[in-house]
Amino acid sequence: MEQYKQMHEKSLKDPEAFWGEIAKQFHFEEKVKGKFLDYNFDTSKGKIFVRWMEGAKTNICYNCLDRHVLAGKGEQIAFYWEGNDPADAEVVTYAQLLKDVCRVANVLKAKGVTKGDCVAIYMPMVKQLVVAMLAVARIGAVHSIVFGGYSADSLADRMLDAQASVLITADAVWRGPKLIALKEIADDALKLCRGKGLEVKMNLVVQHMNNVTAPQPSNGSAANGNPAKKTHFDDKGNYKVNWDSSVDLWWHEVVSTSSSECDPEWMDTEDPLFMLYTSGSTGKPKGVLHTIGGYMLYTATTFKYSFDYHPGDVYFCTADIGWITGHSYVTYGPLLNGATSVLFEGVPTYPHTGRFWEIIEKYKVSKFYTAPTAIRTLMKFGDEPVKKYDLSSLAVLGSVGEPINPEAWLWYYRVVGDSNVSIVDTFWQTETGGHVITPLPGATPCKPGSACFPFFGVEVALLDEEGQEIKGEGEGYLVFRRPWPGIMRTVYGNHERFETTYFKKFPGFYCTGDGARRDSDGYIWVTGRIDDMLNVSGHLLSTAQVESALVEHSSVAEAAAVARPHIVKGECLYCFVTLTEGIQFEDKLVGELKTKVRSKIGPFATPDFMQLAPGLPKTRSGKIMRRVLRKIAVGDRDFGDISTLADPSIVEKLFELRPKGA
Ligand code: PRX
Repeated sequence: MEQYKQMHEKSLKDPEAFWGEIAKQFHFEEKVKGKFLDYNFDTSKGKIFVRWMEGAKTNICYNCLDRHVLAGKGEQIAFYWEGNDPADAEVVTYAQLLKDVCRVANVLKAKGVTKGDCVAIYMPMVKQLVVAMLAVARIGAVHSIVFGGYSADSLADRMLDAQASVLITADAVWRGPKLIALKEIADDALKLCRGKGLEVKMNLVVQHMNNVTAPQPSNGSAANGNPAKKTHFDDKGNYKVNWDSSVDLWWHEVVSTSSSECDPEWMDTEDPLFMLYTSGSTGKPKGVLHTIGGYMLYTATTFKYSFDYHPGDVYFCTADIGWITGHSYVTYGPLLNGATSVLFEGVPTYPHTGRFWEIIEKYKVSKFYTAPTAIRTLMKFGDEPVKKYDLSSLAVLGSVGEPINPEAWLWYYRVVGDSNVSIVDTFWQTETGGHVITPLPGATPCKPGSACFPFFGVEVALLDEEGQEIKGEGEGYLVFRRPWPGIMRTVYGNHERFETTYFKKFPGFYCTGDGARRDSDGYIWVTGRIDDMLNVSGHLLSTAQVESALVEHSSVAEAAAVARPHIVKGECLYCFVTLTEGIQFEDKLVGELKTKVRSKIGPFATPDFMQLAPGLPKTRSGKIMRRVLRKIAVGDRDFGDISTLADPSIVEKLFELRPKGA
């Protein structure tokens, strides 16, 4: 902990010395010529900008692959690919990855893709996805990965916004027992793009379905001859796709004949690396833009320290590469460190609820990284599916994406980690590029539910509504006073939106949009989005706090609390609870739950409404769409766009279950 404090202090006092030393591990074709760091965070002083290592030239793909291969580590395993079906598995070394990347890079170049062009990627969790993104980076183009669960409309919107004229996709994928017909969706998206004047140059398609095991009748809803198999496969069992020979190319056909050598394009450190659209729960999605040099230093360093990475570790991050967690901690962070990772195509509950634990045992995973929503889902099945496997290889368990309630934290620690691991609750955002508040394994004494302390280079402040800084203990807006290397540089095509969203409210600070509390020991507790805060009789309350209290009750599997306008209190609490299997929703339980919140937080926090929720309206990335819950709470059916929900039908079910008097 002392060492952390010293290093953190150094990183703030002399960023150039701190990050300059780290930069020495990487290959820069040309050295820094201008300022090491230059920035403006204050809208009143002009345009917001952040520039690290001006004038230096590098290539992130070279640093992820060539650097290790040249150092004699080509035969090391980069990925253990684990398919949706446990029978499907593959191993990929650094040397193989480099060759494949060069082949694809040459295909892209042959199609006229050059420096600065945007390439859209819409793929399942297969090794070709990693190859595709690195190939794009190798030639200095910019990737825009769209999560494979998005609709044709969403894919088209993102392609149009970035004017991406090349798409890389796959024929289809099994996710658990479900078929996702990616090419079919991509075809629809390309039609929409053309309709809006975008000229599509190429759609490069990975043939995946003929190489994998289809779900067996005994494995879930694919039972009785899987309907998808009837409509999407021919008599010989081959997956069928529509083919437009003016744009479609099979990956395996063009890649096999392409050269496995391709010089990297030496890029300016501040050239764009990728854009990634943040989920548009409000308004139009934003293309968060990250640049090469700073993102490289930051993802590599956070990966190394937050997971205490050492050679010999086997690391497994369950996030899809379509989200920022996958970009930074499936692809870039691990590869920059020369790590060996598990790349998992499937879902945690298929073909059984112990799938994660089975994979950990199989590959002797030492560092594991997942989301609280997954932890809570798996907790529902009890300890038995975990205890079946030997998880003694585990040393660090990470959490990301939302505040983790102490109950889930403790289950993760005690049941999954056998009380013999470090838990790292990593707070960050698509915008931050990498972890910004996180404990460091073995160094930081943890408190369940707290993301603890800022990472190197990050200076945290808490502000009140007027922008006054809250020193010491207190709760307020979570902001950062200065840039760390991995911070986003702009919203693609809309710098003004970047400035208004993140810098306008508090000049001089990057505003996360989250609230946080600092306790008397200086620990940071992220309480959730500010828009999830509510004010009950003048008391600021976070919905996460209430939810955490509710899920402490043994009958509750998951809970969501929202604000409902109240004539006397201003706002009151309306709670949705998903119960553990076999539990009835009765008056007695409702009373107990209200008491739980009341005793945990205070009488002012007593929920006014409690309703049963067979499920919660979650986006495909697992985020609860709270605006829908707020509508249900007030009995308003004007839900707005719910097409991004994983299961839109849950909304109507919830509406029908509204309690009497609500
Ligand atoms: O509200 C915070 C929450 O997730 C938001 C960022 O979401 P996204 O850009 O989709 O990135 C998710 C993966 C990094 C934050 O503003 N969040 C993320 N991690 C945590 C968290 N809230 C509390 N604790 C965390 N560890």
